[in-house]
Amino acid sequence: MRIGVLTGGGDCPGLNAVIRAVTKSLIRQCGAEVVGIEDGFSGLMDANPRTRVLDWRSVSGIAHRGGTILGTSNKANPLRSPADTERTLANARALALDGLVVIGGDGTMSIAHGLADLGLRSVGVPKTIDNDIVGCERSFGFDTAVATATDGLMRIETTAMSHSRVMIVETMGRHAGWIALEAGLAAAADIVLLPEIDHTVEAVARVCREREAQQRYTVICIGEGAKARGADLTVQHRVEGSFDPVRLGGVAHVLREQLQSLLKSEVRATVLGHVQRGGQPTPFDRVLATRYGHHAAQLVAAGRFGEMVTLQGGDLRSVPMARVANQQRTIALDDPLLVTAREIGVSLGEH
Ligand code: F6P
Repeated sequence: MRIGVLTGGGDCPGLNAVIRAVTKSLIRQCGAEVVGIEDGFSGLMDANPRTRVLDWRSVSGIAHRGGTILGTSNKANPLRSPADTERTLANARALALDGLVVIGGDGTMSIAHGLADLGLRSVGVPKTIDNDIVGCERSFGFDTAVATATDGLMRIETTAMSHSRVMIVETMGRHAGWIALEAGLAAAADIVLLPEIDHTVEAVARVCREREAQQRYTVICIGEGAKARGADLTVQHRVEGSFDPVRLGGVAHVLREQLQSLLKSEVRATVLGHVQRGGQPTPFDRVLATRYGHHAAQLVAAGRFGEMVTLQGGDLRSVPMARVANQQRTIALDDPLLVTAREIGVSLGEH
């Protein structure tokens, strides 16, 4: 058996641990040959495909490393034109691939699903720091992102305290507020603003004013997809050719301007950005990614292509790829963690 492995879409801490586990499991369990495809689907679409053999030694010592040794692309799409599709399928035949393991997000899964209809089968491994995959209670990379965001918030808190300032810290997560909520709770932020709950600037200002009179400083954690009631999403820029071209970011600066005119204290904003995606995965993420990779290899061994690995009730399971493509798991308004935040007095900027 000869299996191709690729990482597609934005990167995420833990990708190398998945590559290692899937490769070692395939070699050991199935005696398979594993072919690494470089830069996501881009490496398989080129006239001269870019691949490398993944053997035992080439994936040793990488579980702790951030990024992806294979490289990735958030633009390459073999389904974009009939010529691209035909070249990709011809390359897969020339490489004698029996199937692929694709490690990626929404876009990667829907491409893999489309290629399966044309004869190139895949097993999927979901990746995102956003933790927003439907049917999957925890994606690898999220724990690392939360740890980094928490560290950022806590560093901001000490300087907020020294200067009696209102400090706004923006986290990633697109339309899901999981990183903002968990990091906000972990760092004991005073106000947490989420994409799932529109805030009002007046409600946020009121909490800041109350704190001005007592504690003298305020830390606000805001998810990049959050917005004030009636306002538009803050779009940072567009990446044309990407599966979802809209890039969010910068809402912290918008809020800073709005708040400054309502408060005596100085207001400052920090956008944490890609620092949340980089660096070494936490031990938790290394273990979770290893479990995902091992389970993906088991699906390949059982011939269960068309499925994507998920975590449900703490156990590794799988769901049809088609069921998760193009959907997001956002925070439900009755989510226990959200209820906890509210009930311990964290302001969500609602009223
Ligand atoms: O989906 C993961 C993510 O990091 C989001 O949280 C963020 O909005 C987006 O990717 C950033 O994408 P890019 O790396 O293309 O700027």
